[in-house]
Amino acid sequence: MRKKIVAGNWKMHKNSEQTEDLLNDLIAKIPTDSETQIIVAPTFVNLASAVDHLEFINIDVAAQNMHQAESGAFTGEISADMLKSIGVNTVILGHSERRAIFNETDALIASKVDTALTHEMTVIFCFGEELKDRQEKQHFNVVENQLKDGLYHINEAAWKNIVLAYEPVWAIGTGETASPEQAQEMHEFIRENIRKNFGATIADEVSILYGGSVKPENANEIFSKPDVDGGLIGGAALKADDFIAIVNAI
Ligand code: G3P
Repeated sequence: MRKKIVAGNWKMHKNSEQTEDLLNDLIAKIPTDSETQIIVAPTFVNLASAVDHLEFINIDVAAQNMHQAESGAFTGEISADMLKSIGVNTVILGHSERRAIFNETDALIASKVDTALTHEMTVIFCFGEELKDRQEKQHFNVVENQLKDGLYHINEAAWKNIVLAYEPVWAIGTGETASPEQAQEMHEFIRENIRKNFGATIADEVSILYGGSVKPENANEIFSKPDVDGGLIGGAALKADDFIAIVNAI
């Protein structure tokens, strides 16, 4: 049975005090009987306090990025070992903002994936097409290439540490959510592509999240699709009521 996951990518929002306030609000409102894995990804400076704050709460903490090197002269960067040392065992990699703004290539993301897997971390692997790709009907090719060049080098055993997050770039932060049908069509394509390359067991067990303007009002319809296993949430994750409403929508 595939895991249902709702993860909140807080991006560069919430200082230390605001993080504590939002976490307290989430703790007060989190459903106690949910089978869904709930993850929050605060900024680096708030990860350690978030881990401590959530020690006895059914909410996991993820990092939004990490460097591929074990250590070294990389000013401003964070290593896998540093994340593990504060109890962070999940990391978002390949987010479209890392690709577009910070020029992260498929090859670089692949090396980050390798480092995270070496440290037995869970990787939320992000990918998705630009609007022009979809307009030119290249979206399936783009997604397949991102998977092949960033992730498909891993061995079969590593897939237990992989969560996929399909995030059409044109839907991120725009309010232009992919329709449930568009999401299902791409998720089905992704699952079948994994089946072709890695077999039925891995294809049927990997969780594929949708990200891109998921809101309380559209979450249930998107999450009801057979190949959508949850969501990677941006803006709506910054408000406890909205994030919990999305968790309850699955
Ligand atoms: O990583 C999730 C994020 O990119 C989606 O952002 O604001 O469209 O939910 P948003």
